[in-house]
Amino acid sequence: MVMLRTLAALLVSVATVAAASPSRARRVLHERLDALPPRWSLHRRADPDAVLPLSIALRQGNIHNLDEHLLNLADPESPNYGQWWTPAQVVQAFQPSTETTEAVRAWLSADGIDPARVRMSKDHSYMLVNVSVAEAEQLLATTYYVYQHEDGSEDIGCHHGYHLPEHVRDHVDLVTPTVHFEMIKLGAHGGKRAKRSLSPAGKMRRPHGAPTQKMDESYLNAVDCDKAATIDCFRALYNFYPNLTQTQKNSVGVVELADQTLNADDLKQFLQKFNPAAADTLPIFNPIDLDSNTPDFTETDPDLISEPDLDFELVMGLISPQQPVQLFQVGGSGSINFLLDAFDGGFCSFEGGDDPDIDGPLDVTEDCGGTKPANVISVSFTGGEDFPPFYMQRQCTEIGKLSMMGITFLFASGDNGVASNGDNLCLAANGTAVPGPGRFLPNFPSTCPYVTAVGATQVDSGKSVHDPESATSLFGSGGGFSNVFPRPKFQQRQVETYLKRLGNSVDSSLFNSSGRGIPDVSANGLPTVAVIDANYTLTGGTSASTPIFAAILTAVNDARLAHNKTPVGWINPAIYSHWFADAFHDITNGTNPGCGTDGFPALRGWDPVTGLGTPDFPTLVKRFLWLP
Ligand SMILES: *[C@@H]1O[C@H](CO)[C@@H](O)[C@H](O)[C@H]1NC(C)=O
Ligand SMILES: *[C@@H]1O[C@H](CO)[C@@H](O)[C@H](O)[C@H]1NC(C)=O
Ligand SMILES: *[C@@H]1O[C@H](CO)[C@@H](O)[C@H](O)[C@H]1NC(C)=O
Ligand SMILES: *[C@@H]1O[C@H](CO)[C@@H](O)[C@H](O)[C@H]1NC(C)=O
Ligand SMILES: *[C@@H]1O[C@H](CO)[C@@H](O)[C@H](O)[C@H]1NC(C)=O
Ligand SMILES: *[C@@H]1O[C@H](CO)[C@@H](O)[C@H](O)[C@H]1NC(C)=O
Repeated sequence: MVMLRTLAALLVSVATVAAASPSRARRVLHERLDALPPRWSLHRRADPDAVLPLSIALRQGNIHNLDEHLLNLADPESPNYGQWWTPAQVVQAFQPSTETTEAVRAWLSADGIDPARVRMSKDHSYMLVNVSVAEAEQLLATTYYVYQHEDGSEDIGCHHGYHLPEHVRDHVDLVTPTVHFEMIKLGAHGGKRAKRSLSPAGKMRRPHGAPTQKMDESYLNAVDCDKAATIDCFRALYNFYPNLTQTQKNSVGVVELADQTLNADDLKQFLQKFNPAAADTLPIFNPIDLDSNTPDFTETDPDLISEPDLDFELVMGLISPQQPVQLFQVGGSGSINFLLDAFDGGFCSFEGGDDPDIDGPLDVTEDCGGTKPANVISVSFTGGEDFPPFYMQRQCTEIGKLSMMGITFLFASGDNGVASNGDNLCLAANGTAVPGPGRFLPNFPSTCPYVTAVGATQVDSGKSVHDPESATSLFGSGGGFSNVFPRPKFQQRQVETYLKRLGNSVDSSLFNSSGRGIPDVSANGLPTVAVIDANYTLTGGTSASTPIFAAILTAVNDARLAHNKTPVGWINPAIYSHWFADAFHDITNGTNPGCGTDGFPALRGWDPVTGLGTPDFPTLVKRFLWLP
């Protein structure tokens, strides 16, 4: 359980505490809770002899070097291109400095904790020591209590807050158990906690700008790709006829959030029709923060299955049965932070840990590390760039750190044009997100420069796969410019060219031309054929484009692995370079309306509607095989 710890508590507090510290250092409040979480009450003082497994999360070092490290691995001009780091190297590069570990050790020692009792966590991000409640109260200048939940279970903590010596607090992200309530159960008193309802999902939404409708099954061929886009259409559009040979070494994963869940019968029906060899294949289930590790693929509520059905039908329609496909099923509110926590245990506490106000509470012990990421991670969910800036920076930094290991993060760019995905919000003059009109509000994490954002295209009415595609017209393919992340160097040239060509045709006060531009690439996203609740359905969106692009990139990785090269990892610096100029079909027609405007126009070259364009698979492979 995690509770309403506010960031303000971390940043604002400078109240000092005179009492209760044997070492004379001035103490400052580090974290506290404004109120107990619902259904919890303060029960009694904690027994001074009870043992607490104290964990001190240390501040990571060298984060400011992340961009430089990453470019050294991902810039196609770098002699070290593709030499991704091992998880251990990444841990080492960003592990707390010696200064940090020494400062914390010295504090513990000065307050009477024998250094021999202190252990470092395996990833060097925590210091661990078993202390008595009495010792903890002195160390942290606080009082420990036992709290009781309505269901009878108990937790121990100090919700009034805890204090650290002033010279130590810059080296520490957080200490547990304190105010976080994700703590030890107290023996026999602890009944099993009742399942509590979760707070509504953060602001991550599945893009579903495309209307869902029953379809005329006579269009289930590769000819009418303007009326019904099938697996064969994508193969024809992108020359995608891969011969996968490295399927045991290679990996790809699709992320599903909160209660979104796959229906196995739908998947089977779809594969029987479009990829019969794969009809008996299911994804590999990777549960994250779930209370059951057994998949249940029998849900039939279309609101819960439409996205996962679409995602897996497309990926597995394109690369199964040869290539195993993984499902990262993220529980709780389905925060992307929970996914990243599961990939990297150090992220659980990084910069103060997740934000329970946004990420919501978890009813289960959180998965911190232990989940192996896949080479390509496809996420058909995104939210507006209206999370707190600190929250977005923290999450984006982590995506960058994971990218150093050669992982590609693909996110849908959204289905509401220049407005935020799902909510359709824009920015009012005072900076708050409001229903339009207003300044454009792009989507996060798509705007994180370490993410490759995928937009959506269509075969125009009456046209075929041999004609150029356009930006989708039934909904605006998400695109625009970040208000948080500055324009990265890798897209400097293309974005400047676009802005020049755009001239004054879009009111420049509506967007931040210095921000990172999205999307990076695009793929067909309308009208996509899927089987949902046993019916052939027309749907689509950037949430269809993303798994299609993921399948194509996975086959590129296969080709690189076959040549004893590494996976492509963070592709942005490569695909924007002149080496890749012919690897994408430039999309030059269409707009992405939103916020009471027509949005941006697609133009020659990169544009904030369709990015660099749609992939040409054989060329993409060739170009990525040029690189070391
Ligand atoms: C704390 O005590 C537990 C239970 O005895 C033990 O498993 C753990 O290794 C100890 N931790 C440290 C840091 O000594
Ligand atoms: C696929 O690749 C394998 C191994 O390189 C080769 O033996 C086989 O002929 C290829 N199949 C096709 C259809 O190209
Ligand atoms: C900001 O502006 C919007 C729209 O004008 C308004 O609804 C909202 O109350 C304002 N918020 C603040 C904090 O001023
Ligand atoms: C441009 O896209 C629209 C749909 O948005 C389509 O009707 C039109 O035919 C396209 N024009 C060209 C030149 O491709
Ligand atoms: C524009 O984007 C930059 C980052 O590139 C940011 O620092 C700045 O605050 C943004 N301006 C507005 C008005 O949002
Ligand atoms: C699927 O088709 C059946 C039969 O036509 C219909 O009864 C059912 O409502 C449809 N389901 C959905 C989700 O449209």
